[in-house]
Amino acid sequence: MEGQKPKIFSGIQPSGELTLGSYMGALRSWKALQDDYDCVYCIVDMHTITVRQKPAELRRRAMEQLAQYLAIGLDPERCILFIQSHVPQHAELAWILGCYTQFGELGRMTQFKQKSQQHAENITAGLFTYPVLMAADILLYQADLVPVGADQKQHVELCRDIAQRFNGIYGDTFTLPEPFIPKLGARIMSLSNPENKMSKSEPEGCVFLMDRPEDIRRKFKRAVTDSETEVRFDPAGKPGVSNLLTIYCSATGKEIPEAEAEFAGQGYGAFKAAVGDAVVELLAPIRQEASRLLGDKAYLEGIYRRGAEAAQCQARKTLSKVQRKVGFLPR
Ligand code: TRP
Repeated sequence: MEGQKPKIFSGIQPSGELTLGSYMGALRSWKALQDDYDCVYCIVDMHTITVRQKPAELRRRAMEQLAQYLAIGLDPERCILFIQSHVPQHAELAWILGCYTQFGELGRMTQFKQKSQQHAENITAGLFTYPVLMAADILLYQADLVPVGADQKQHVELCRDIAQRFNGIYGDTFTLPEPFIPKLGARIMSLSNPENKMSKSEPEGCVFLMDRPEDIRRKFKRAVTDSETEVRFDPAGKPGVSNLLTIYCSATGKEIPEAEAEFAGQGYGAFKAAVGDAVVELLAPIRQEASRLLGDKAYLEGIYRRGAEAAQCQARKTLSKVQRKVGFLPR
C-alpha cells in the first residue's frame, strides 16, 4: 500500500546528456525500484546553475531528460517525476537548513574542493551551499533511501547530520535518510580511459543514450583495451576489457563467465563489435521512444506539471512543520 513502502528520492542534474553510465549505474535501478518503493525522481535544475549554463540549452536538456526518464520506463502513474525549480519549497527549506549547517562542514565536501578548483574564477555561494539544497531535496519528502553514486555519498551523510541536528533541537521532524547504492548498478568506465568513470566531460569515451547507432559502434570500435588478446575479466590488470565485459553483460543480462566463454579464442575486434551491437540494441528503443515523446511537448508539460503538484503536496507539509518549529508566524 502507498505510504507504507519505504520512500526513495533521487535526482540527476540536467547538466549534460544522459549517458550509458548513468543508465546502467542509476536509471535502470530507478526503474526497478518503482515496484517496491514509493519513489520521487527529480530533475535538479537548480543544482545545475551552480556552474554557468546557457539558458536555452538548460531548458532543452531538462525537457530531454524528462523524455528519457519516461522512455526508460519511469512511470508517472507509479512514481513522482518533477523538475526541482517548479517546487519552491526546495529553495525555502534550503535557506532554513543552511542556518543549521556549519561553514566548516561545507568546506570539507570533496566535491566542493574539486569543483572550486575546476572553476577557480567562479566559486559562488551556490557552489558552496549545494549540499544544503540537496539536503532540502531529500528531507522535504522524508526519504528513507537515496540511491546515489559513490561520489554523492558524502552529501547524503551530511544531509543526515543536518537532519539529526535539527531533530535534536526541535524534536522529530525529518526521517533520517541513508545512501543506497543499488545492487543492480554497474560502475561503467570511460571507453577511452578505462581508469576513469564514464563521463560526459570526455565525450569520446562516453556513450550517450541518444547517440546514433553508427556513433555507438564507432565508439566501441575505438575502445581502449590492452596489448594481450584474451577476453578475460580482470579489472585491475585489464581495465578496458573488463569494462567492456561489464557493459556487455549489463546490456544482455549474461553473466561474466558466460561472456568470457563466448569470446574465447576470438580477437578483440569481434568482441568490441559485439559489445557495440548489444548496446545499440539496448538503446534503440529508448532513443526511439524519447524522440517520439519530444515531438509531443504538450504531453511532457502535462507530466511535469502533474509531477510538480504531487511533489508540492508533500513538500508543503514538511516545510510548514519546519517553519512552525523554528518559530515563524503562520501566514
Ligand atoms: N548532487 C547529485 C549529483 O550531482 C544530484 C542531486 C541533487 C541529488 N539533489 C539530489 C541526488 C538529491 C540524490 C538526492 O549527482
